[in-house]
Amino acid sequence: MKTKIIQVDPASFEEEVLAEPAELIRNGKLVAFPTETVYGLGANALDPSACDRIFDAKGRPHDNPLIVHVYRPDDCRDFAYCEEYPVFEKIASRFMPGPITVIMRKKSLIPDTVTVGLDTVALRCPVHPVARALIRLSGVPIAAPSANRSGRPSPTSAQHVWEDMNGRIPCIIDGGNCSVGVESTVVALKEDGIHLLRPGAVTPEMLEELGERVILSKAVLSAVTPDQKVESPGMKYRHYAPKAPCTMVEGTDEDVLSFFAKKKKEGCGILCFEEDLASIGKSDFVLTFGKKNDKEGQAYALFDALRRFDRLELPHIYARKTDETSIGLAVTNRLLRACAFDVIRV
Ligand code: TXA
Ligand code: MG
Repeated sequence: MKTKIIQVDPASFEEEVLAEPAELIRNGKLVAFPTETVYGLGANALDPSACDRIFDAKGRPHDNPLIVHVYRPDDCRDFAYCEEYPVFEKIASRFMPGPITVIMRKKSLIPDTVTVGLDTVALRCPVHPVARALIRLSGVPIAAPSANRSGRPSPTSAQHVWEDMNGRIPCIIDGGNCSVGVESTVVALKEDGIHLLRPGAVTPEMLEELGERVILSKAVLSAVTPDQKVESPGMKYRHYAPKAPCTMVEGTDEDVLSFFAKKKKEGCGILCFEEDLASIGKSDFVLTFGKKNDKEGQAYALFDALRRFDRLELPHIYARKTDETSIGLAVTNRLLRACAFDVIRV
């Protein structure tokens, strides 16, 4: 299959450029599109055979449900029993459209292919103008996981999508780099509070401001054993494993940097903060992901850095330990998973 790329400037575009991809979605085909978090691989969420194509193109296990993207927050009501969750109103008015996904009891309109037979559905209303225009012009809700092949880091540029999906899908909309860089915050609404299943740019601190109890899922900061029951099927997959084993390194700046310098000499990959370069020195195997105190910058750069490492042959990668507050929790969660939760103190 030939994969067409359509360039769109999110800051200023004519909707006409999206007529063809919207038509593809309506006809049961797949379109990769930019969102504020990561690129999504979209299909008509109401068409089970279109959604099946998503699992095929990604090589995604058939027990991992898809997120349904809607145009307006209120459209969630068509697909889930939102009225059963008083906190939904607060979340929707404060954070939607935006980088949050809410899991609620589903209505029958949503096919089992999307939810893999669960009685809940994950709903998200993105804020990215291209994503929103595509959903509106398609006239249907769009089921979309991240547009990577299963087991690869989520794509934050059209180039990343091309690497994974060229020849597998008919169309990629190139809207530049994703501004957040990590996937949306996933929450499940339950009687005892808001369960945070996957951290993202809507942070636990922001959710707490709603005056609700926020319960952090154990799987966010620790490994899930294969027999353990998980709240979100995606958690049990080691989403992304770099080609080289990866270890997170804790310690004082001085100790970590001298450890990195030693490992660099041994030919290992180093994932560090920008200011660390002054002491470690540049090399093809030393990659940075933002400044030490810029957690947004780290989220923005992380997946691109991880993809770069996969182009190199390395015996091992050592990564900086990241902060666990605000969006740093999302960065730490993704990096810990890339490290298979292997952390050492030096
Ligand atoms: O930012 C994002 O959320 C991106 C963009 C494209 O919107 N999408 C994304 O989708 O990250 P995906 O499929 O890569 O991650 C969806 C996560 C998975 O971990 C999945 O298991 C979980 O959401 N999920 C979906 N439906 C669920 C449900 N009904 N119950 C529990 N977890 C669910
Ligand atoms: Mg994904």
